[in-house]
Amino acid sequence: MSALQFIIVFGLLGVSFGLSGRFWHITDLHWDPTYDLNNKPNKVCASSGNRPVGNAGTFGDYVCDSPWDLISSSLSAMKAISPAPDFIVWTGDDTPHVPNEQLGEEAVLGIINNLTYIIKQLFPNTKVYSALGNHDFHPKNQLPAASHNIYNITSELWKDWLHLESQETFRQGGFYTEELLNRTGYRMIVLNTNLYYDQNKETKGVEDPAGQFAWADHILTEAANKKEKVYIIGHVPPGFFEKKRSKPWFTAKFNQQYLKLIQKHHAVILGQFFGHHHTDSFRMIYNSDGSPVSTIFLTPGVTPWKTTLPGVADGANNPGIRLFEYDTETLLVKDMVTYYLNLTFANKAQERWEKEYRLTESFRVSDASPHSMHKVLERIANDNCYLQKYYEYNSVSYDLTECNEDCRIDHVCAAREVDFSRYEHCLEKETAVFMCGGLLPFLSALISLVLTIHV
Ligand SMILES: *[C@@H]1O[C@H](CO)[C@@H](O)[C@H](O)[C@H]1NC(C)=O
Ligand SMILES: *[C@@H]1O[C@H](CO)[C@@H](O)[C@H](O)[C@H]1NC(C)=O
Ligand SMILES: *[C@@H]1O[C@H](CO)[C@@H](O)[C@H](O)[C@H]1NC(C)=O
Ligand SMILES: *[C@@H]1O[C@H](CO)[C@@H](O)[C@H](O)[C@H]1NC(C)=O
Ligand SMILES: [Zn+2]
Ligand SMILES: [Zn+2]
Repeated sequence: MSALQFIIVFGLLGVSFGLSGRFWHITDLHWDPTYDLNNKPNKVCASSGNRPVGNAGTFGDYVCDSPWDLISSSLSAMKAISPAPDFIVWTGDDTPHVPNEQLGEEAVLGIINNLTYIIKQLFPNTKVYSALGNHDFHPKNQLPAASHNIYNITSELWKDWLHLESQETFRQGGFYTEELLNRTGYRMIVLNTNLYYDQNKETKGVEDPAGQFAWADHILTEAANKKEKVYIIGHVPPGFFEKKRSKPWFTAKFNQQYLKLIQKHHAVILGQFFGHHHTDSFRMIYNSDGSPVSTIFLTPGVTPWKTTLPGVADGANNPGIRLFEYDTETLLVKDMVTYYLNLTFANKAQERWEKEYRLTESFRVSDASPHSMHKVLERIANDNCYLQKYYEYNSVSYDLTECNEDCRIDHVCAAREVDFSRYEHCLEKETAVFMCGGLLPFLSALISLVLTIHV
């Protein structure tokens, strides 16, 4: 066999044994069925609240949730870019940001039904792992730690994607686990972390809502015994929002419990994939000796909706979707490519989904392992060029203003520390570093001047 033949055969083997696989991650589609360009200019969409709608077009507006055209555009883009992924991860938040009175249980289930339907229509033979978001419930955020009609109906809507056992746990608490793609040795865990959201009154003060922590601990312990490799997906992530200082989502106790779970079982967990932020970021988890052991990838949302969270300035984003590349044998996350629709351009000129960036190219790392993501974080923390690049990707190339020192600290500490007290400590430490750069040279110059005078 000649060298060339060998290379070809080797190449084919690589492909046929599927060492390199792909999956899509989409999240926070937030369809707003009221979006209509025929409405009065200040009433284009209910999700704008009372805010002026400045640039409404076919594909939406930065103060509105997604019109149907944007939903269908994002799914068609996925189909055009990578029509046969191994699976799809869909991490919830389907309904618009409107008061509860404007939705109701039937409306919420109707919206979940429409989104499920279009995903199935475009990817009829693709396995979808689907997690509930805090907006996939009525009233919003109040997902209970017990059987509920919304869990029942949703498990019915998703039954093509769920084994019987998964349907059972889903009906009890909105979570489930399955062998990843039915392959022995590989596992997907789909969590309902809305149970840990500090806005959820149903689970406040409950030790272990729906027994999900005990269940996950058991599944992960068994996974270790069976030498399985695991991905975890969910909607609301632990840790802090990078666009607002000291803003966590989980209650303190649930945050700690989640972190402990991951630190205990990190050896079998090859990746965690969450949404809810609508921004593009990631969270590192370190073990007690400071080595990076796990990464939570935060995929940007499809909705461009500008957040109304007080204290966040101009928190909109361009619609984004993300393709992950992974090693199908080891489940190592090898790379991720984010695609986006420049909403302004799409409304003005043309519906054009383009590659925004590829992780390994933009941050010069060899893969997306915890060690590589740690390197990415250190580059962002210490090099303004990387910081600025990360910052622009954070809003999916919507906010191109400069990320200043306060901004750097917010983003770096949110990515570095999921733990509440370590995060606060990071803020202090990073602020001190800045003081050093600015003040210490001045102080030492002053001291030496004083000394010189004395001498
Ligand atoms: C949503 O689903 C309902 C019920 O099946 C259907 O009548 C309606 O046309 C769907 N809407 C869209 C935009 O697909
Ligand atoms: C959900 O479905 C289960 C099993 O089919 C049933 O036992 C339970 O009563 C249902 N719960 C609600 C709230 O509808
Ligand atoms: C996976 O296994 C279940 C039964 O355990 C079966 O119903 C399902 O069709 C299988 N799915 C695939 C994609 O092979
Ligand atoms: C998006 O499109 C608008 C209008 O064409 C343009 O001004 C802007 O620079 C584009 N943004 C990016 C990040 O390319
Ligand atoms: Zn959302
Ligand atoms: Zn959410």
